[in-house]
This record gives sequence, structure tokens and C-alpha cells, in this order.
Amino acid sequence: MSVIAVVPAAGRGERLGAQVPKALVEVAGEPLLVHAVHGLLSAGCVDHVVVAAPAAEVSVVVAAVERFGSQVSVVVGGAERGDSVRLALRSGLTVLPGARVVLVHDAARAFTPVEVIRSVVDAVRSGLPAVIPVLPVADTVKQIDSTGRVVATPDRAGLRLVQTPQGFDVDVLRKAYGLDSDPDGASPMSILNTDDAGLVEQSGIPVHIVAGHSHAFKVTTPFDLAVVDAMLAQKAV
Ligand code: C5P
Repeated sequence: MSVIAVVPAAGRGERLGAQVPKALVEVAGEPLLVHAVHGLLSAGCVDHVVVAAPAAEVSVVVAAVERFGSQVSVVVGGAERGDSVRLALRSGLTVLPGARVVLVHDAARAFTPVEVIRSVVDAVRSGLPAVIPVLPVADTVKQIDSTGRVVATPDRAGLRLVQTPQGFDVDVLRKAYGLDSDPDGASPMSILNTDDAGLVEQSGIPVHIVAGHSHAFKVTTPFDLAVVDAMLAQKAV
């Protein structure tokens, strides 16, 4: 049962404040993206990885992933994250038309432990249509209105923080992205554009959870880079 992973890495990553797109920011001598791809392939259950790169950085990304050989290919990303996922998925299915499982993994979650990747793949292989890694919510969460006034305090026991890779039966994700009906179309526009499982939920397909990991956090701010440095230093001892 072949597994494709698509890695949307075409964002600018402005919150990180770096001169290069976030996926190309170097940590321990390698771009974040290379750490992410390395993690996916190290899990031992991913057959092919498609990276969606920023249009202006395709040749840099191709050079960065060259070491992985034909297991990794690169496409030009789209305007929104969902467009990048759609383009990478379409390309991955031409490389491995028989794939049954698709993972969508943010390049910025570059240090996701292989155990998380394996448990998502195993859960989809066991027959679940959509699987996401999650963490419990430690903070109290408020819902606010457009003026910033608090309107609700949801019970955090029923909330989860969502990580990646998110795993899908290939037909479920193809359908969510409308790939069969309109292969050249745009990604469905939605506030859920940050989350592929959200699109799947909208089509009424059940989404299941597995345990995420604190190391799978999304590297977003300069503070996160300091956390990564500390994490890697801890691993090295
Ligand atoms: O902006 P945010 O951190 O939510 O982006 C999540 C992931 O989606 C990042 O890895 C980013 O590079 C990717 N992305 C993309 N194409 C875009 C926008 C974001 O591949 N147009």
C-alpha cells in the first residue's frame, strides 16, 4: 500500500522574520525543509515525497533535496497553502498512481518524531479515511467577536491542537480537493485552508485522531528557532 507525502513549503513565513522563505531557514546547518523530508523518509513507510516550493526558489529547493534522489520531487507551489497541497498531490499521483495513503505534512513541522508519522500511516492503513495527530490543550481558550470581546469559553477538555502529518485515504483527499472533477482548478477556498482535515470534515467524512508530540510543533517565530536549537542540543547529549 504505497504512501505519498506532500509537503507544502511555498509560504513566505513572514512571522519568522528571515530573509528567505521559512522552509529554507537553516537549523543545524540544514534548511527546515530538509529536516522535514528527512523525517518523513526516516519513518520507513513513505514511498515518495512531493515538495511544493516557492516559485522564486524552485532551483534552491531542488538542490536542497537532491541528496534524497528519486524519492523526492519538487513542484511550484500555489497562492494559498491549499493550492500548494493540491498541486503537490496531483503531481504525486502521477509519480505513484497506485498510492493508497497520502500524508500532508507542513515543512515547518520539521522535527516531527518518526513515531507520529508511523502511527498516522498505520491508522490510515487500518482503514480509517482521515487521521490527524493531536495534543491536548493546556491553556484556557476564548472565542472572541470581531471587536475583540470575549463571547465564549469552550471547555478545553473537548479541544485538541492539530499537528501534521495528516493522513488520508487517497480517494478521500482527491475528492476533498476536487481533483477528479477539475484537475486544473483552484483549491476550495475556505477558512479551513490551513487544515486539510477540515476540508474532509466538510464533506462529512469522519476524521480520527492519534497522539501527536510536542516536538512536532510548527516553527513559526524566532522564539521557536531557539526552542529547536535547545531540542537538538538535548538530543545530541
Ligand atoms: O503560513 P503557515 O505557517 O500556516 O503555512 C503552513 C505551511 O504551508 C508552511 O509549511 C508553508 O510553507 C506552506 N504554504 C505553502 N503555500 C502557500 C502558503 C503556505 O506551501 N501559498
